[in-house]
Amino acid sequence: MNSTKPNGFGVLTSDLVLKIDEIIQTYESNSTRLVGILLDIQDIVPKQYIPREVASYVSETMNIPLSKVYDVISFYAALSDVPRADYVIQLCDSVVCKVTGNTILRDAITELLGIKEQEATADGKYWLEYTPCFGACDISPAMRINGKVFGHLTTQDSVKAALDLYK
Ligand code: FES
Repeated sequence: MNSTKPNGFGVLTSDLVLKIDEIIQTYESNSTRLVGILLDIQDIVPKQYIPREVASYVSETMNIPLSKVYDVISFYAALSDVPRADYVIQLCDSVVCKVTGNTILRDAITELLGIKEQEATADGKYWLEYTPCFGACDISPAMRINGKVFGHLTTQDSVKAALDLYK
């Protein structure tokens, strides 16, 4: 069972189950640490999201109501229940980055990749979304690509240089 389909069915391969089990064990199956568990799982699922099969598996394995798993997914902007992309681009939407020009970033990405927020490129490579402050205010305006932080992005060239690392 190695197929992956974008709607989430068939995503739960035996290999993925093993990795999810490891993550849950790392957190000692502690339901109060569900956010961290889901974030770590999301990182290893193709297209970086929590498919329904995976949410159900976590619910059953940790003995947590499925509704609670979805409460967490819908509350935290960093979690997604829809397929995103190979590379998730997150623009900080908090006050310091706004003041220092996060719209330059957004416009540059829209021009370079042809996507707006909550959209993926047609090839499934890049996804763009806004996120709250991630602690890089001193190098604002900033963005993250798959968790790596890039700062001082005040020109389209600087944005392109960062994107060129993820082809
Ligand atoms: S305000 Fe943008 S990283 Fe903190």
